Amino acid sequence: MAIPKSFIETLRLSSDVEAIVSSYVKLKRQGRNLVGLCPFHSEKTPSMVVYPDTQSFFCFGCGAGGDVISFIMRIENLDYVEAVRFLAQRAGLTVPEGQAEDRLSQIKPVILEINRLAAHFYHHILRSADGNAGLQYFTERGLTPQTMVKYGLGYAPPGWNTLRDYLRAKGFSFEQMYDAGVVNRGREGSYYDSFRNRVIFPIVDLRKNVIGFGGRVLDDSKPKYLNTNDTPVFKKSRNLFSLNFAKNHAEKRLILAEGYMDVIAVNQAGFENVVATLGTALTPEQARLISSYTKEVVIAYDSDGAGRKATDRAVGLLEEAGITAKILTMRGAKDPDEFIKKFGAQRFRMLLEDAGSVTAYQLGVIREKYNLDTPEGKSTFLTEAVRYLATVHSAMEREVYAGELSAQTGVLRETVLSNIELERKKNFRRDKKKEWAGIASSQDLYRDRVNPQKATNLREAKAEEGILAFLFKNPDHLTGILSRITESDFVTDFNRMLFFGMIRRIQGGEELTLSGFAEELSPEQMSRLAEIVNRDLPMSEEILSDYIHILKDAPLRNLSRHVAEMSGDELLDAVERLRQKKK
Ligand code: CTP
Ligand code: MN
Repeated sequence: MAIPKSFIETLRLSSDVEAIVSSYVKLKRQGRNLVGLCPFHSEKTPSMVVYPDTQSFFCFGCGAGGDVISFIMRIENLDYVEAVRFLAQRAGLTVPEGQAEDRLSQIKPVILEINRLAAHFYHHILRSADGNAGLQYFTERGLTPQTMVKYGLGYAPPGWNTLRDYLRAKGFSFEQMYDAGVVNRGREGSYYDSFRNRVIFPIVDLRKNVIGFGGRVLDDSKPKYLNTNDTPVFKKSRNLFSLNFAKNHAEKRLILAEGYMDVIAVNQAGFENVVATLGTALTPEQARLISSYTKEVVIAYDSDGAGRKATDRAVGLLEEAGITAKILTMRGAKDPDEFIKKFGAQRFRMLLEDAGSVTAYQLGVIREKYNLDTPEGKSTFLTEAVRYLATVHSAMEREVYAGELSAQTGVLRETVLSNIELERKKNFRRDKKKEWAGIASSQDLYRDRVNPQKATNLREAKAEEGILAFLFKNPDHLTGILSRITESDFVTDFNRMLFFGMIRRIQGGEELTLSGFAEELSPEQMSRLAEIVNRDLPMSEEILSDYIHILKDAPLRNLSRHVAEMSGDELLDAVERLRQKKK
């Protein structure tokens, strides 16, 4: 364990969940608890609850939850140790270093060293006679030697073991290389280079670590790009290509491109403020990451169908992260790389200045579908345009574009506006319904990934959760509980693991807190634990006895298959009936 428990405890006492959460989210008091708009999904009515009593939070809309560390991990995009550091700094504490470390924290520096050496190796080859093919490729695509050096571009030769043998000679084991993703494992347990006969794009993080690689073929073979899979130092969904250069030039805005070559071409043309995702569509984490550097993003994706779809998705995510998105429309070129090559940096700058609002872009896309010379064309165009404008938040924008629609079609501006308002009312009612449906489906037991056994053992799982909640709030009852039930009576593995964890902590003399679990549980598991211990269930020794009976009553358990279909309320009724019967 990298960070001592005692420090986490100190940190917890100095990082009040209410204070921390409310620096991101406006909270309103509601009885003992506080509620606010959940920052982890988009919603208009608050469904996130903060519980000062248990120092935790839970969102009934999306199921995110946990302690103050989980909250920081999610909202700041950090891993556990980074989140602890973040909170410590905020509280003016110093994280003690040099404790016995787990495998993960030992392997990370090894992977980074392997990556660093591999990047140097590929780059060195590119500049040697063995790298002619790669050098020629980059040169033909218009990259200057300075750019190749700046990005540390490289070439992986066609051999199967070139990098592998180089790293082996440097003293690294095949397993370590495999952990870094630079070699693959074959069937007979042999290892071979992951990248062969490809040009290489090293992916560098903000601390200048090489965290992974992209590799492109030199011809039209498939797959065109290979990217390092996620490793302990590399999460595709949390990093952006070229952010190390862009981060100091992002005040005004960032350009979001689709791929490595676009980014490099735009950068070479004199725009440092450009990034791309790493072989996946934009993620919410990346949108939040971007939002800590800038409030405006110009999307410069390919102008093909896939690019448009990706644009739509990115716009939504960026806006949810509080970023104004603009869209660059290119004519005469399919992507920024090609555009700059054809028309030059100056024209690209004009294109940037000219990037339109999302609204203008979307209306343009709709407009292209219809022929406004015919009455039907006009009216279907209007219907669709009005439907779109109804989703625009700013009333001013709606008015402006209503004016444009009116000019394009000859329909009165007032008519357009009143249709927009009608549509908005409809949407509002539908959203309300959807929000409720969303809550229902997030509790859909048939898609329970944290505790997959719950769906088919609903009655027992609920009883287990009742016991967990009771024990969490009354740790002094442990001996009493253990005299009647043990872990082996638990039916679902996840709850058994939590039960065992609580026992171990109580017996070890630890105070039971959510934070005590944060290191060993995943964010989703933490969410569930927060949900369980905060659930507003009636709590008494009598009810506890009933829960224990449910777990103890094996025959009854076998008879009760149909119970799996009971709702939560029906189940509580059943527990209540059982209690009455015993009296
Ligand atoms: N990509 C990928 N795997 C593929 C194809 C694409 O991971 N098989 C990712 C890469 O990160 C790439 C981005 O998607 O940079 C954009 O794809 P594409 O438009 O095909 O690549 P370009 O950058 O235009 O590549 P090039 O100009 O080199 O053809
Ligand atoms: Mn492209």
